[in-house]
Amino acid sequence: MTERKHGFATRAIHDGQHSDPLTGAVNVPIYLSSTYAQEGIGENKGYEYSRVSNPTRDALEANLASLEGGTSAHVFASGMAAITAMITMLRTGDHVICGENVYGGTPRLFNQIISRYGIEFSYVDSSNPENVRSAIQPNTKLVHIETPTNPLMTLTDIRAVADICHERGVELAVDNTFMSPYFQRPIELGADIVMHSTTKFLNGHSDGLGGVLIGTKPEHKENFAFVQKCTGGILSPFECWMILRGVKTLAVRMKQHDESGRKVAAFLAGHKKVSKIFYPGLPSHPQHELAKKQMTGFGALISFETGSLANANAMLKRVKVCTLGESLGGVETLISHPATMTHAAIGAEARAQLGITDGLVRISVGIEDVDDLIADLDQALSAI
Ligand SMILES: Cc1ncc(COP(=O)(O)O)c(C=O)c1O
Repeated sequence: MTERKHGFATRAIHDGQHSDPLTGAVNVPIYLSSTYAQEGIGENKGYEYSRVSNPTRDALEANLASLEGGTSAHVFASGMAAITAMITMLRTGDHVICGENVYGGTPRLFNQIISRYGIEFSYVDSSNPENVRSAIQPNTKLVHIETPTNPLMTLTDIRAVADICHERGVELAVDNTFMSPYFQRPIELGADIVMHSTTKFLNGHSDGLGGVLIGTKPEHKENFAFVQKCTGGILSPFECWMILRGVKTLAVRMKQHDESGRKVAAFLAGHKKVSKIFYPGLPSHPQHELAKKQMTGFGALISFETGSLANANAMLKRVKVCTLGESLGGVETLISHPATMTHAAIGAEARAQLGITDGLVRISVGIEDVDDLIADLDQALSAI
């Protein structure tokens, strides 16, 4: 008899996490030990040194691999550390195709650090999968995309891009930070690697940085574990425990983020001071049908146009329930100004090309009472 596969919320709470064999504690302890006693030469309980492996980290990694449907997961000190670890799979002379509208720190890492080692990058609008096909070169090894993109909420058809990549022997990595595995599972759609900034929805409480790479092949498991061991950019046991704790409520949090996100989007879409709104859950979004096909919810991220830098500043100064700040995915509503925050690093020209205006505001809808959020946005918009 085959065992019934548990649902997402059950796996979020139980996978990778067993009661402590020593005491029966239901929560995985925070193993604050850099080293482990050994019984003899080469005889140990599977742990030797915490840069290489740690039981709290193992629990988190098993949990995240299960939620994304991968075969391995490796956690790093931040999302950027995870992307850096992924890029170490490549060699001088290799070529990477990256979505053109990803988190600003990703092209900054690629262009200002990794390109020094002779790895070449091309940036394409992956919302048209044919652009990915056209950009593939004989030395292309990896395609890295985000969907939806930050902050303009453009989607990429993961299955279509995965098929193109696989025809040409190229691996597809998807940064799934915005959706979390609750709403989007890229591996089921053909992706080879899934990456997250766990700093966002997975942790969910804006109280710790982290990153993860979820792999699907034996070489991912081997390579990413080797990078952890060699470079040491691993996540501390305490931070691992914080994410384990956060993930237990991922399903209920995401449901609420989504429900409130839809209401806030509807409010903004009907507001006379908002000239444009970017949210895949609205039927007016040009890729709404794709959103319904590849995601099971629309999430919490909404961007909207206030018309100018002065308007954006006037409203952002007035918010009271929403917090003006970078980042996203926490229980609290965070509101930000992409041009001067997340996308400052790419420069004015690149922002203009992508359509990131000075009047654009991005909101990560939290799980406060949605009526309070709407009232807060309404009073803030009256400043314009
Ligand atoms: C989509 C996305 N990917 C990666 C990162 C980088 O993650 P971290 O800040 O944890 O290094 C961020 C950070 O905002 C992000 O939004």
